[in-house]
Amino acid sequence: MKYNLEYVLDSALDGIFIVASDHRLVLFNRACEELYQLSQEDIVNKALWKLQDLKKILPGKRSDNGKPAYGELASKKERMILSHKGNKEVWVETIYTPIYDQNNGEIAYVMGVIKDISEQKNLEDQKQVLLTQLSVLRKDIESKYDFSKIVGQSSGILNALELAGEVAKQNTTVFLSGESGTGKELFAKAIHYNSHRAFKPFIAINCSAFPDTLIESELFGYEKGAFTGAEKAKPGKIQLAEGGTLFLDEVTEMSLSTQVKLLRIIQEREFEMLGGIKTLRADIRIITSTNVDIEKMVREGKFREDLYYRLYVYPIFIPPLRDRIDDLEVLVNTFINKLNQEMGKQVQGLTPEAWKILKTFKWPGNIRELQNVIERLIILSKNPIIGANEIPGYIKREYDENVSSGRLDVGGVLAGKFSLDKSVEQFENNLIVDALKKSGFNKTKAARILGLTRSTFRYKLAKVPPQRLKLVKERSINGEALGVSHHPKADHLS
Ligand SMILES: Nc1ncnc2c1ncn2[C@@H]1O[C@H](COP(=O)(O)OP(=O)(O)OP(=O)(O)O)[C@@H](O)[C@H]1O
Ligand SMILES: [Mg+2]
Repeated sequence: MKYNLEYVLDSALDGIFIVASDHRLVLFNRACEELYQLSQEDIVNKALWKLQDLKKILPGKRSDNGKPAYGELASKKERMILSHKGNKEVWVETIYTPIYDQNNGEIAYVMGVIKDISEQKNLEDQKQVLLTQLSVLRKDIESKYDFSKIVGQSSGILNALELAGEVAKQNTTVFLSGESGTGKELFAKAIHYNSHRAFKPFIAINCSAFPDTLIESELFGYEKGAFTGAEKAKPGKIQLAEGGTLFLDEVTEMSLSTQVKLLRIIQEREFEMLGGIKTLRADIRIITSTNVDIEKMVREGKFREDLYYRLYVYPIFIPPLRDRIDDLEVLVNTFINKLNQEMGKQVQGLTPEAWKILKTFKWPGNIRELQNVIERLIILSKNPIIGANEIPGYIKREYDENVSSGRLDVGGVLAGKFSLDKSVEQFENNLIVDALKKSGFNKTKAARILGLTRSTFRYKLAKVPPQRLKLVKERSINGEALGVSHHPKADHLS
């Protein structure tokens, strides 16, 4: 086949046209016909194109024999819609390139290369929508994990908040400790979303949720073929957290061999994927948490001491709810407001007795347990004010026991509500009950613990309210029969 430039241009997928300086269209390839829905015969050699505007933008006269320097060719890009192609809008991008007269350096022709970019434009539009949505979601998350959303006014929580607020902006490794459900993850997220890494991911991994073999592949990822079943490569949490924060929850559950690898990441910021040969770098901030005594684990050789020192750089302790019971009221009110909105309920509060019950309970599950209890109360509530009888039995029992023991009224003693005799009697009752519990409800042993004769003990035992003894016995894990009691008030013990 003979080489033919026109044939070549007609085969091009992009539209190509050339306009002469007298505005005549001298070339209009087949792709152009398709884009503009015009035929070459109708348009070629007709003076249609206005070059004036283009001349203003394109580089002017050339002195060096009209040869532009390489890289200056694509002189102007333009995007527009061609609405005349059927009913469909077609987005095109045209690159205009000047062709200079070799003799006088003036623009002799302008070549246009025109591309259908509808698909690309579509993707760009979608990307824009997604970015807008993402920024809305991000604002939502940021406000959700703002420090102001961590509720509490007790000195314990204020101290933790102050420490967290001060370290958030740094890259410092943070160590969060506290019982289960105290809000460790909430703190970790608040630190992340208030750091300069807020726009990068927050990735959490619960070290207790994976067996030893799996935790490493979760953390470091693996290459294809690293082990049987690894059909394709998978990034680890460290890679997913790149630029952001990696939260190692329950870090003490990590095996000693994984601890060595973690140490390397912290010291060198380097790691390899399982089955990988390339050393990768990790730009991550590390926050860890535990609800166990890590120092004890170090002493027992279950946690590497060198890693401990690397992680325990900035410890923040979150106290349990029972040690900051002052926070209970504001927490409950916050949860009621939030849940009312979510469930369309109108619960307004609790009766004074219901408040007392909640404040007496020791909350082993902390804030999570409190939140769950409130949720249950709201779901089941028939009245706008939740009463004592609606509180779950296991929470009420602790209160009942305390009320009958008078323990709740210690404040009242100092406030002058009770006589000294009454207070001493309550104090004695508490000791009697505690000795009974300690002795496995054996009266002879209990009397001995307190240094009393059996008859004096019995005399004092008779003064303990029967209701209280009953409750103590019910709740005592070692509850045993006390043997025959001759005092009518202590009959239920036998
Ligand atoms: N001070 C607080 N104010 C409001 N909500 C809180 C507070 N503390 C905890 N919560 C809520 O209590 C629940 C438990 O918190 P989180 O999961 O952070 O606890 P955790 O210490 O990580 O528990 P675990 O040790 O069991 O993993 C979450 O729903 C959290 O939002
Ligand atoms: Mg947690």
